[in-house]
Amino acid sequence: MREWARSVSVEEWEGLAREHSTPFYAYDADVLRARCNDVRAAFSQAEVRYAMKANASPALLDTIHAERFGIDAVSPWEVRYALERGYAREQVLYTGSFPSDSELRAVASMGVVANLDALSAIDRYGALAQGGAVSIRVDLEEGAGHHPHVVTAGDESKFGLTLDALDEALSIVRRRGLRLVGVHQHIGSGLLTDAHRDVWLRAARGLFDVAARVERDVGPLAFVDVGGGFGVGYHEDERTVDLRPWGLALERERARVWPDPARRPALWVEPGRYLVAECGVLVARVSTIKRARDRVWVGTDAGMHALIRPAMYGSYHPVWNTHARTSPVERCFVVGPICESGDVLAEERMIPVPDEGELLVIGVAGAYGYAMASTYNLRPRPAEFFRDAGSWRLVRKSEHYERVVR
Ligand SMILES: Cc1ncc(COP(=O)(O)O)c(C=O)c1O
Repeated sequence: MREWARSVSVEEWEGLAREHSTPFYAYDADVLRARCNDVRAAFSQAEVRYAMKANASPALLDTIHAERFGIDAVSPWEVRYALERGYAREQVLYTGSFPSDSELRAVASMGVVANLDALSAIDRYGALAQGGAVSIRVDLEEGAGHHPHVVTAGDESKFGLTLDALDEALSIVRRRGLRLVGVHQHIGSGLLTDAHRDVWLRAARGLFDVAARVERDVGPLAFVDVGGGFGVGYHEDERTVDLRPWGLALERERARVWPDPARRPALWVEPGRYLVAECGVLVARVSTIKRARDRVWVGTDAGMHALIRPAMYGSYHPVWNTHARTSPVERCFVVGPICESGDVLAEERMIPVPDEGELLVIGVAGAYGYAMASTYNLRPRPAEFFRDAGSWRLVRKSEHYERVVR
């Protein structure tokens, strides 16, 4: 599935480049829907809340909405935009991280469930949203991820309420007259290996036990949210996780804790990357070829401002030429135009050296690509195209000068 973009012809890419400019992201609706189906099949008992931080492109949000998934939002504007795109309030969960009072006020005014992980935040929310619905994000000391920066539980993590604070959190909930409707955790991102899966399942098991304990104290919960984090294959020899065993193991655990199906809280999962990574690529134009010492620097108009994952996490993204070439492969370093030595999209790729002016494709770029793009060095964020039922449409233009500088 992630190979879909290799069959797009150079003429087709050039047509999109003519319609707007390069670099641009391009997304495929069928791949996105296929990934939605995988999640639905693997977690057939669960409700899905898409973590829109991975990619808030309107076309993707609308497609996911049509799949009847909800949203996990991590800022007031994510909540607001999800509601604007047609998601119902009950479908949106706000998961805050060190929220200010004004952030909490904004969330309360939109009437979504606030998922909080600090005693102070629960208390302040209670003061300004009396009777509001909250969920508690816990940290069960089980974290994992593809890079230390994306591990979101355990000693080094800023997220989650540790269990020693749970009783106090429940008493704040009672004192403030809040409605506790769920418990939540998210342990990290890019979980690809069997070892990662074991940690995730151990954490989910722990969360179910916490939920049962909370229910004994405050009464039935509406949901238990086990988070997301499911990994995709970026490297040519990596495979995207098969989620079915995850779903089966989860159901066994749920049945253990709540033998009576009628008394089980709803199960929520909140994948981001898994749904959108493979449906997106970044298309860039080669600007400058430079040979220096034993390296070939392939400069493109997409740099870390367009895709920061390689610079930020050392992440690997496949890169390929759009023109068929018979020239021998060489050791290429694909870089961008940003004034930083770390502005490298791909290191030591054995590809034929493209000509200046040709297009290159950077694959598996749908998650945390555009979403983390910036206007660093006063360069605009890329445009976005979306292909559905065989036809492409421009869904977001790159920014113009006035918008970036004002
Ligand atoms: C609270 C929360 N839920 C879900 C996700 C989605 O993670 P992923 O994209 O790895 O599935 C994240 C991302 O870090 C998150 O912070």
